[in-house]
Amino acid sequence: MPPPLLMANWKMNLTVAESCKLAHAIARSCGSCGKSRESRQSAQIVLLPSFTALDAVARIASRVKTLSVGSQDCFWEERGAFTGEESVRTLQELGATFVLIGHSERRQLQNESNEAIRKKVEFVSNTKTVTPVLCIGESHAQKVSGKRKSILQQQLLSAFKGLLQTPLSREIVIAYEPIWAIGTGVSATASDCATIYTYLRGLLENAWGMDAVNRYCRIIYGGSVSEANIADFVAKGVSDGALIGGASLTAPGFCAIIKRVSNSV
Ligand code: 13P
Repeated sequence: MPPPLLMANWKMNLTVAESCKLAHAIARSCGSCGKSRESRQSAQIVLLPSFTALDAVARIASRVKTLSVGSQDCFWEERGAFTGEESVRTLQELGATFVLIGHSERRQLQNESNEAIRKKVEFVSNTKTVTPVLCIGESHAQKVSGKRKSILQQQLLSAFKGLLQTPLSREIVIAYEPIWAIGTGVSATASDCATIYTYLRGLLENAWGMDAVNRYCRIIYGGSVSEANIADFVAKGVSDGALIGGASLTAPGFCAIIKRVSNSV
């Protein structure tokens, strides 16, 4: 079993200098809180700074075994006339080993479509060295109208459409982030997540089989994760990790989450 995956999504909240300061503080703290008594790795921590801070944060993270970095987005072509986009090649060059794809803020604010997300997932999956982290989640209106499962099914299966016909042989991460839980202080419950994960795993197992899904696919939770509730999701084995926004923006806040997880695995 891989250690829990704790991903810090800093979104557009920090300057380069602020990102470096936070990364330094987390790196210092990880020296003591990232390892269990038996000194086995007890959490895999991934920092997701803005594109502009990626290089500097990756250099800081490289000093600590349990720390790595990823990017908050990417483009689906290797190079070309795509003004303002970032290629996976460049992100790799800067040290990214994970890429978030299809975050609900991009789906809503940039009108990112399931088709664009599919292209990104396929492109990143073909790199082998960068792990795609597909974000899916329903809105409050979709939840109360009983459409949650069908929305999640559509988001999940359309993103992996081009990959479902061939055996799964590389790591993928799915971040279940209900939109109504992001930044609201109201998280999903662990039992709610367990039901959703069983459903999502079932969909993937239909294509890839149970063994491959168990081996390569991690499902993490995001949406108002804090020190107070992280144990409900990760320590009790419901989720394979967490995608953390607001609570990852201060070193004490994020390190308290890491400590909770480290003390309980
Ligand atoms: P919050 O943890 O602030 O709710 O944000 C969650 C999120 O969007 C992480 O990607």
